[in-house]
Amino acid sequence: MKARTSGRERQLPAGGHAPREPGMSDSADDLVWVELRLLVPETDPLLLEPLDDACMQVAPGGFVVEGADVPPGDEPPPPIGWLRYRVYVGEAELEGARLLLAAAIARWPGAELTATSLPEGWRDRWKKWFLPVEITEDLVVTPPWHAERVRAEGGPERQLIVIEPGMAFGTGQHETTFVCLEGIAALGRLGALPHDVLDVGCGTGVLAVGAALCGAQKVHGVDNDPMAVRAAHVNASDNGVAARVTFADTPIGEVDGVYGLVVANIMTHILLAMRDALVARVAPGGLLMLSGILREQEEEIVDAFSGDGLMHIGTIARGGWVRIDLARPPLGA
Ligand SMILES: C[S@@+](CC[C@H](N)C(=O)[O-])C[C@H]1O[C@@H](n2cnc3c(N)ncnc32)[C@H](O)[C@@H]1O
Repeated sequence: MKARTSGRERQLPAGGHAPREPGMSDSADDLVWVELRLLVPETDPLLLEPLDDACMQVAPGGFVVEGADVPPGDEPPPPIGWLRYRVYVGEAELEGARLLLAAAIARWPGAELTATSLPEGWRDRWKKWFLPVEITEDLVVTPPWHAERVRAEGGPERQLIVIEPGMAFGTGQHETTFVCLEGIAALGRLGALPHDVLDVGCGTGVLAVGAALCGAQKVHGVDNDPMAVRAAHVNASDNGVAARVTFADTPIGEVDGVYGLVVANIMTHILLAMRDALVARVAPGGLLMLSGILREQEEEIVDAFSGDGLMHIGTIARGGWVRIDLARPPLGA
């Protein structure tokens, strides 16, 4: 989700990834936006990964994938057995994006790529479909325009993570974010969230903010994308947890210290590449939660991360994705 990393956030509102909003640039409101549409066969997710990567490369803030089961909207769903990708780019990036995506779908005969300039006001129409995600009854990720209603509808215990979609990856809509937040909320409910939490590949900071809201006292997030780090700062501040949460673009290998919980929602090949650095950051008695992993990649990750004092203690699945939990026994155990 290169949004910045691996896979795809699914169709809005059932799990879409926000189209990039031009809020990160001063002149962005003047940009002309183009929707690139791709129609590709619904096939093995592993075969779709290079296409997902290409989409993330051209539209780091996100893209939408719709299957035949997409809820009724302003147009018919794609045919059964096909997926429709919608990728949003500025006009200046169009030709490069078109080349990259055309190359990524060349393997499938019958796959299509079309481009449509978006009319003024498209972002407002899109917002209508971007709904809050209830992780638990007491923890909801919501875009700002639904925050007031979601707060009013919940009980006094309800915590909101308010995230402006489109700033980076991590709106709660994707299964991989969802399962991490679910784990964080579950520990929080028991008052068992560790004091120190490290969020590797923080994106919008949604997990870091969630951890702080669920009781962690000191949270640090890192991402190799400076735009994500910037977005995460804004989100921590907007959610009132900036005093307990820091972010940086420090490579994981250079992060100091150990943490009671290390959570990393990044693509499998990146997790494998940073394996030693991740393992080294887990404190005695601590937990490592890994996400961004397709079901069929579970064994590879469990094999790679078990050992060096870490034990596989469980796998949580959602959609085609899994979260893998590992634990380091306390000293002297
Ligand atoms: C799938 S997003 C996860 C965002 C958020 N933590 C969530 O759960 O929704 C993965 C993030 O990892 C970042 N990333 C990718 N490779 C990385 C690396 N080598 N070091 C740090 N961050 C990386 C991407 O920029 C992206 O923001």
